[in-house]
Amino acid sequence: MLKLPGLIDPHVHVREPGATHKEDWDTATQAALAGGVTLILAMPNTQPPIFDENTLSLTLQAAERKARCDYAQFLGAGPANALEVARLAPYAAGLKMYLDQTYGELRLDSMRLWEAHFQHFPVSAPLVVHAEGRTLAAAILFADLYRRPVHLAHVSRAEEIELIRAAKARGLPVTCEVTPHHLFLSQEDLPAGAAEHPGRAEVRPRLATRADQQALWANLDVIDCFATDHAPHTLAEKDSPQPPPGFPGLETMLPLLLTAVHEGRLTLEALIEKLYHNPRRIFNLPEQPETWIEVDEDAAWEIRSQELFTRCGWTPFEGWKVRGRVRRVVLRGREAFREGRVLVPPGFGRNLRPPLYADLVSEPHECYL
Ligand code: DOR
Ligand code: ZN
Repeated sequence: MLKLPGLIDPHVHVREPGATHKEDWDTATQAALAGGVTLILAMPNTQPPIFDENTLSLTLQAAERKARCDYAQFLGAGPANALEVARLAPYAAGLKMYLDQTYGELRLDSMRLWEAHFQHFPVSAPLVVHAEGRTLAAAILFADLYRRPVHLAHVSRAEEIELIRAAKARGLPVTCEVTPHHLFLSQEDLPAGAAEHPGRAEVRPRLATRADQQALWANLDVIDCFATDHAPHTLAEKDSPQPPPGFPGLETMLPLLLTAVHEGRLTLEALIEKLYHNPRRIFNLPEQPETWIEVDEDAAWEIRSQELFTRCGWTPFEGWKVRGRVRRVVLRGREAFREGRVLVPPGFGRNLRPPLYADLVSEPHECYL
């Protein structure tokens, strides 16, 4: 049995508030535990989006009641909320800026709208951008001009990872993440069922070419984190005439990556670095005491959507044969998952940022910061 630290997924779409038929704080965090993830950072493109104090408070209240693993919540950059989100920075995972096509309303089309956020958001707080192609090049320039760290979400193409390599070589303060679906799927290797149901291949950034996919593997040393971009939509929605983009990923990330370790394409040290040490550092996350996962690295099994905890009811990796299974998860001293069963109740999960309203917290708050 392999013992690993509780994994950190810095990119999860929880869907609450607003679309709990796809997922909510309860099912997302159950899926996380089943996947060996003990800490998720939640994205702000909910309905309403998380972009001010009221909406942050709304989602944190739901999380406090329902989350089963630990978490922090991102704020979304809008056209007119730069001062408000800067003020709320201590209470959030960081700021997410959507500079390119995405799902939801938080999109900043003009560079003028980026400026206020780069000016005001605290340099010490994490700033994540969704930027592709030339927009990614512009985001890297902003990191240099404003001399502040920028984390580049879900990098998917050869030209992007090569640019990030060059930026890092120049000492620019950028970090990046890559999703399992961009590592394991491409336009030539579509998700299961995508031939009959093209919506099942829809994701942003789009699945890239096989050459792009190979470039990600060839530049593993440039990749700081693996992140699922867990973006659940129901199968009915995916198979509809206007399928929303996004794949669930929390429960399949570790088995896919452990399979790569088994095949000698990835080292276990690199896996731990990108799923634990680097995200902890980049997102200023506290240690989760007495927290680890136990994995049977040799267990061979087949991914089946029926066995998943996510509410969305499907996976792009249906039927894939993988190696490595999470047997047990211990979170802050409590057995949280064992042999396919989640053992901690809703509300066990903790917000790893300070409480928004300290005076309303009834019991002493064990924030680890
Ligand atoms: O495929 C995606 N789905 N890309 C995004 O940027 C958003 C996400 C979602 O929220 O569904
Ligand atoms: Zn996302």
